[in-house]
Amino acid sequence: MKTLTLTRPDDWHLHLRDGALLAQAAPFSACRFGRALVMPNLKPPVTTVAAALAYRDRILKAVPPDCGFTPYFSLYLTENTAPAEIARAAAEPCVLGFKLYPAGATTHSDAGVRRLEAVYPLLEAMEELGVVLQVHGEVTDPDIDIFDREAVFIERELVPLRRRFPDLKIVLEHVTTAEGVAFVQQSPPQVAATITPQHLRYNRNALLAGGIRPHYYCLPVLKREKHRQALLAAATSGSPKFFLGTDSAPHPRPAKENACGCAGCFTAPLALEMYAEVFEHAGALDRLEDFASGFGADFYGLPRNREKVRLLRKSWEVPQTLGGEIPLVPLRAGETLPWRLHDA
Ligand code: DOR
Ligand code: ZN
Repeated sequence: MKTLTLTRPDDWHLHLRDGALLAQAAPFSACRFGRALVMPNLKPPVTTVAAALAYRDRILKAVPPDCGFTPYFSLYLTENTAPAEIARAAAEPCVLGFKLYPAGATTHSDAGVRRLEAVYPLLEAMEELGVVLQVHGEVTDPDIDIFDREAVFIERELVPLRRRFPDLKIVLEHVTTAEGVAFVQQSPPQVAATITPQHLRYNRNALLAGGIRPHYYCLPVLKREKHRQALLAAATSGSPKFFLGTDSAPHPRPAKENACGCAGCFTAPLALEMYAEVFEHAGALDRLEDFASGFGADFYGLPRNREKVRLLRKSWEVPQTLGGEIPLVPLRAGETLPWRLHDA
């Protein structure tokens, strides 16, 4: 059987939730990935170092201790973030940056930023202290077509922001468009992007052709094939600017299978296998390790993991639902995947 040995991967964009959902979802990530950058869009949002440290305790209680999982945090940037919080974040090793959610862009983003100018002083402090800005790159203007929101954000907000703060470290999270890829490629090395498994594997037909498939709905939404091709080329190019961030975002089944379903694909249980599938199909399996286990750690100035994991070329079926009390439907439920993580 074909096997692929990789340095243990990290997930540089992950939603772990809180309470019962945290307990149910977190082990899927913790047993697969060495580290994760955990997103702060809880209710209420994780806006301070103190709140992140308390959240870390809850996460560590929710994961099997023998997994050796280390969570890192992105704090929720608001127009009311205290300048002193930037300095505290810079001094706290488990905090890797601040997340910019344009208000209203996605799940629990209402506390986000309405006017980018309002946070300019904070961005200046981040630039100065080397604190990373993780960006949800979509405009929220209702007049802008949802499929264009990333491209318009780049043009209207991100290009001017990069000009104004040339040394600010920026991660364009879950990049989904050719425009996003080009922005990152044309920027200096301190600008990078994460790429999800679903945006590498699917175009918008997966969401809409032949019936509406709520488990394929996430934000930014899946785009046209030409954008997927651009993401694939970027991920498999060997450029250190593009690295793994699953954006795994569990919601209870009734919240997804709903007349107004929530955005978010629960991919933690199959993400690594999906990346392997996509890289193999592109003839780039030899580039998977840097993408999944190298470039993200390098970007954040952390050592690469020392442990190894093994992927087996052995087909398996993704379960219809996962977990206990709260029904969670993973992406690709009931489908067969060609790669499987050994001992998962
Ligand atoms: O699809 C998404 N789900 N996109 C986001 O930006 C947030 C996430 C969530 O928290 O559910
Ligand atoms: Zn996310």
